[in-house]
Amino acid sequence: MKSAISCKNIIKRFGEHTILKNLSIEIPKGKITTILGYSGAGKSTLMKHFLGLVKPTQGSLTVLDQNVPTLSDDELRKFRKRFGMLFQYAALFDSLTTYENIAFPLKEFTDLNKNEILERVKELLTAVGLNEDSLYKLPSELSGGMRKRVGLARALALKPEILLYDEPTTGLDPITTKMVNDLITTTGRTENTTELTSVIISHDIQATLKISDYIAFLEKGEIIEFSPTEEFKNTTHPTIRKFLDLTTH
Ligand SMILES: Nc1ncnc2c1ncn2[C@@H]1O[C@H](COP(=O)(O)OP(=O)(O)O)[C@@H](O)[C@H]1O
Ligand SMILES: [Mg+2]
Repeated sequence: MKSAISCKNIIKRFGEHTILKNLSIEIPKGKITTILGYSGAGKSTLMKHFLGLVKPTQGSLTVLDQNVPTLSDDELRKFRKRFGMLFQYAALFDSLTTYENIAFPLKEFTDLNKNEILERVKELLTAVGLNEDSLYKLPSELSGGMRKRVGLARALALKPEILLYDEPTTGLDPITTKMVNDLITTTGRTENTTELTSVIISHDIQATLKISDYIAFLEKGEIIEFSPTEEFKNTTHPTIRKFLDLTTH
């Protein structure tokens, strides 16, 4: 299977603290992979490596066939256009309407004209299950779930090859959580399915088991398990068993 992201023996130190310890993982292309782990395990730090926001102290990192730590600032800017990101807070621009939020990357990074941008924004709205009533509303006029949808539409605007989600449902109510999880699955499975790679960071085990093709468990800076979801459920690793049992009862 082809990897979208390949980490080999990554060590990351901040001062005297070693956050990632000899971490290796091959994240398959075109699939949904979730990285699970307790708070402070190093999950967000690992995700920042994928984008070249953080450089490994040691080890190698290849993402979409690019040797990330060697890229120049210019190359990184280009490289990051191949990603979509959705974080815990949808991080919309508060003073911009839905249309302006989604159009932002299109204006910034493409040569599309006004009409083409409007068409693309409408297409993206449909893809995330919103209708045109939301187009000229401000984030404050939308529900939490709708804001997530707008955030996802913006993340999809440049047709990314990798979608990164860092704790996309943390702090949401159960109904919105379910909606976001459904959205991750539909997006991961329908937007040019064979090409789009989704990587989710989560500590929500129930959702993870439902939506992931592969699951990795990060513990104290190391990947201690990485397997297809069905196999992961039956792991005998004591730390993960404890995590699964604590959170499923
Ligand atoms: N820029 C940084 N400088 C120093 N320490 C950091 C930095 N970024 C993260 N850390 C530390 O790395 C550890 C892992 O953090 P993080 O990757 O955010 O964990 P997680 O996302 O799994 O909760 C934490 O102890 C955090 O304080
Ligand atoms: Mg984190």
